[in-house]
Amino acid sequence: MNTSIEVKDQQKYIEKVKNRNNSKLKYNILTMGCQLNENDSEKLCGMLEEMGYIKTDNQNEADLTLFNTCCVRENAEDKLFGKLGELKKLKQEKGIIIAIGGCMMQEKHITDKIKQSYPFVDIIFGTHTLHKFPEDLYKVLDKKEKLEDIIDIDGKIYEGLPIKRDSKIKASVTIMNGCNNFCTYCIVPYVRGRERSRNPKDIINEVEQLAKEGYKEITLLGQNVNSYLRVEREKNIKFEEYQGVNSFATLLREINKIDGIERIRFVSPHPKDFTDDVIDAIANYNKICKLVHLPLQAGNNNVLKNMNRKYTKEQYLKLVDKMKNKIENLTLSTDIIVGFPGETDEEFEDTLDIVKKVKFEQVYMFIYSRRIGTPGDKMANQIPEHIKHKRFNKLKLLVENQIVENNKKYVGTIQKVLVEGESKNNKELLTGRTDSNKVVIFKGNKDLIGQIIKLKIISEHKWYLKGEI
Ligand code: 5AD
Ligand code: SF4
Repeated sequence: MNTSIEVKDQQKYIEKVKNRNNSKLKYNILTMGCQLNENDSEKLCGMLEEMGYIKTDNQNEADLTLFNTCCVRENAEDKLFGKLGELKKLKQEKGIIIAIGGCMMQEKHITDKIKQSYPFVDIIFGTHTLHKFPEDLYKVLDKKEKLEDIIDIDGKIYEGLPIKRDSKIKASVTIMNGCNNFCTYCIVPYVRGRERSRNPKDIINEVEQLAKEGYKEITLLGQNVNSYLRVEREKNIKFEEYQGVNSFATLLREINKIDGIERIRFVSPHPKDFTDDVIDAIANYNKICKLVHLPLQAGNNNVLKNMNRKYTKEQYLKLVDKMKNKIENLTLSTDIIVGFPGETDEEFEDTLDIVKKVKFEQVYMFIYSRRIGTPGDKMANQIPEHIKHKRFNKLKLLVENQIVENNKKYVGTIQKVLVEGESKNNKELLTGRTDSNKVVIFKGNKDLIGQIIKLKIISEHKWYLKGEI
């Protein structure tokens, strides 16, 4: 069936649920994982609100609890099963509806465990069936039976789903889904399927609509965002070109033209696909933020090879050099995994070496976590936990020292800051972010929320800066 017909078909179920729940019911949602998953949750919230549900942050007053899971690292599983333990009581006392979706539901060993140990869960759905949530919910409400809706094919792209966004200033726009890279540690290709890109026209229309609604910052999302339309081009899969968009760089060019949008970010690119046209786009288009996330994962060539990352330490550093030469005021952030199977102390030093050389603005650090079904999990030479932790702490210390040093450079400078709202810890103050995504706290009038303003940075505090108008 054509996806637009499938989406329209769901509208029937949205109406049916709405008519069935005559009083206003409340839902609560918990999202784990990356920005793509958060964007999926915004779509689930959109569907729930169209069905007449109202959002609550208090789990105890919810009639429906939704859990959008992630499976990239192990601690996510502990979180899910801990939460299900808590929810059991609410299910017994109030008969709430419990729905679990997302990446983890594409793993059979997890759904088996849920069915066996947590049989009170009402709906289990995967990453390829998210658009069918209204139908699944209706069936569960109507038949009072448990339902499992998981398929293991490469999902299609569903346009036109309702969406309720978390912010009125910044919005995420998923431009492609899935991954063809099969890094040996990573579960994503198995739970999100192969790469597929949205049509340029659908993306541009969505961003234009966001601009009309007053959004100032757009983050383009994809598991391998800079290979947008690459598979389509290479395999001659037909797609509708629009305003000359046939690649990631041309998409950036067109989004940069949209009036009202003031900042463009994107995550996560793969270094091996970071083509010159994208570097030129970042250098030339004024709205593209000069903070680029460039996942490194490891600094040693042997480890990189075993990870199947398809670049060497030297190639990564060369790319960084090229970017620094072409892009004025470039800053970089990265992802690093410590303790990949077989990594020796000496090899780990190469990771520290790159961190020292590149001086990242931000480093997201992860301890290697075995994922069932990935090649990494089957590798013989797994690293003992205490060694992984030792390396993690060493990296963390280096990164934190670098961040403090780096923050000092901001003090006394003038920064353009997008004002996001009141500071969480002190309602008297406002909070915003620089182009390089640093949090800045300052005193100012609430009218400034949603605007890009100039602030003088007066002090640094490790995780944030203080500024004044
Ligand atoms: N263990 C630890 N970290 C991982 N990541 C992905 N898979 C794993 C794993 N098995 C990290 C990578 C990726 C980020 C989103 O999560 O650094 O870039
Ligand atoms: Fe995972 Fe590698 Fe794909 Fe990123 S590029 S989602 S790390 S397999």
